[in-house]
Amino acid sequence: MARILVLYYSMYGHTERLAEAVAEGAREAGAEVVVKRVPELVPEEVARQAGAKLDQKAPVASPQELDQYDAIIVGTPTRYGRMAAQMANFWDQTGSLWARGALVGKVGSAFVSTATQHGGQETTLMGIHTMMLHHGMVQVGLPYAAAGQLRMDEITGGSPYGATTLAGTDGKRMPSENELALARWQGRHVAEIAARLAGRSAEARAAA
Ligand SMILES: Cc1cc2nc3c(=O)[nH]c(=O)nc-3n(C[C@H](O)[C@H](O)[C@H](O)COP(=O)(O)O)c2cc1C
Repeated sequence: MARILVLYYSMYGHTERLAEAVAEGAREAGAEVVVKRVPELVPEEVARQAGAKLDQKAPVASPQELDQYDAIIVGTPTRYGRMAAQMANFWDQTGSLWARGALVGKVGSAFVSTATQHGGQETTLMGIHTMMLHHGMVQVGLPYAAAGQLRMDEITGGSPYGATTLAGTDGKRMPSENELALARWQGRHVAEIAARLAGRSAEARAAA
């Protein structure tokens, strides 16, 4: 069984909802799943004035716990076409993990929320992939076998680089059923691959 961390930042709840769906999918595939947030950096009063969702229940992660998982699935809203500073700041504290190669060979995957259809989903997803590749992590996307991303009968998120949603410029659009199904698909997919890789690592250790 793979142990998976779904690690997200969400200001208004869209990425949080995708994180829940990713976790559901990974659990369906038999993984042990932990959902955590990265710390908020915006002062509480500023966040309140901006209408941020302040009742998020997921516990806050510590950078030093990342080596406890077989896979880490990272979700963030887009900020000017790249990941939120809260998520980057969290990973900027993982230098000691990088120095000892603690995440090498683990599975990484990413999901994203933007306001608009062409507002930087792919650049944000690939920025997360790049960061995790620096840690030596194996990147898993969302293959076109997850056929919901091919739909043309409705506006939808979803890309081969990872699950996505579109919040709208007023933030009123929550993830659609199709986007949630794609997020669950990604969670299952990561869990299945992580279980296979974790099994191989255990075999290698036993043989050594
Ligand atoms: C400073 C800032 C920059 C943003 N930049 C982008 C952007 O480049 N493209 C876009 O589509 N949305 C952009 N957004 C909108 C957010 O991506 C949107 O609020 C978010 O996806 C909602 O997800 P959440 O509810 O998980 O926070 C930006 C929002 C803020 C506050």
